[in-house]
Amino acid sequence: MNLREYLAEQQKLIDAELDRLAPPESALPETIHRAMRYSLFAGGKRIRPILCMEAARTVSDSPDGVSACACSLELIHTYSLIHDDLPALDNDDYRRGKLTNHKVFGEAMAILAGDALLTLAFQVLAELHAPDDRKARLIAELSTAAGTVGGMIGGQVADLEGEGKPPNAQLLERIHRAKTGALLRASLRMGAIYAGTSDEEYDALSCYGEHAGLAFQIVDDILDVEESSEALGKTAGKDAQQQKITFPAVYGLEASHRMAEEECARAHAALELFGTRAARLHELADLIVRRKS
Ligand code: IPE
Ligand code: IPE
Ligand code: MG
Ligand code: MG
Ligand code: MG
Repeated sequence: MNLREYLAEQQKLIDAELDRLAPPESALPETIHRAMRYSLFAGGKRIRPILCMEAARTVSDSPDGVSACACSLELIHTYSLIHDDLPALDNDDYRRGKLTNHKVFGEAMAILAGDALLTLAFQVLAELHAPDDRKARLIAELSTAAGTVGGMIGGQVADLEGEGKPPNAQLLERIHRAKTGALLRASLRMGAIYAGTSDEEYDALSCYGEHAGLAFQIVDDILDVEESSEALGKTAGKDAQQQKITFPAVYGLEASHRMAEEECARAHAALELFGTRAARLHELADLIVRRKS
């Protein structure tokens, strides 16, 4: 199966699992379930759950039921996007090629839809068919990665407080590792934990996730400069407009491309231990750097 077919198959699997996990639109109160589902099924790339499932497959032959665990990452990610787009944060009108959640449902419902997806993520983990000690580890990984100390929320705070400040390489790396890198690395770690990883495998997948995660946000910054709003499904050129601390702002475009490639090479190197078992993870690292949206 080529990469395109593989991605389509994985996305379908994740979509079906999310559909199973999210309350139906008919459940009361209907508005919140419509708002949650609007953003969940707006056409995300599903890169985090795919990485999670692939990490699990790298560790174990048949990690049954890993898709629910993988979906917890997409639930957190989607919540983070809904809140990231709010007028109080990045104030964006488009996401995933559609109007942002607050543009359709209003700010109050968008805030609540984000809260609800966040809450659902941990319900899903608590209800996994997995040994209790593994579930506890998964919950700790996801909450830490989404949290304030080196995690997504901490990164979002630094990102907002960095607006308009002079470009600063140290702050830049801290923002990117936290706001995006932490959840990406957790995707790999959670797949590994779910599948019963050894410490050695866990460390290798963490290292891959850390480098792929930094590469992911470097590329997000580059795409914001180089691509059109149509290609991205979100408004291009927003970072410069809002004076965000980004890789292109600090290093320029050419160096940013090179640095993304360097992170990608480090991600590849981290997989040595797995040999051919990690073939898809190698492809996914390349995809993260070469993607156009
Ligand atoms: C966008 O993430 C926000 C960042 C953390 C950079 P993605 O590029 O994974 O967005 P979707 O899920 O495909 O829409
Ligand atoms: C978002 O970073 C990171 C999140 C935690 C959501 P950006 O603000 O750069 O993401 P986009 O460009 O709006 O998708
Ligand atoms: Mg932002
Ligand atoms: Mg944004
Ligand atoms: Mg961005």
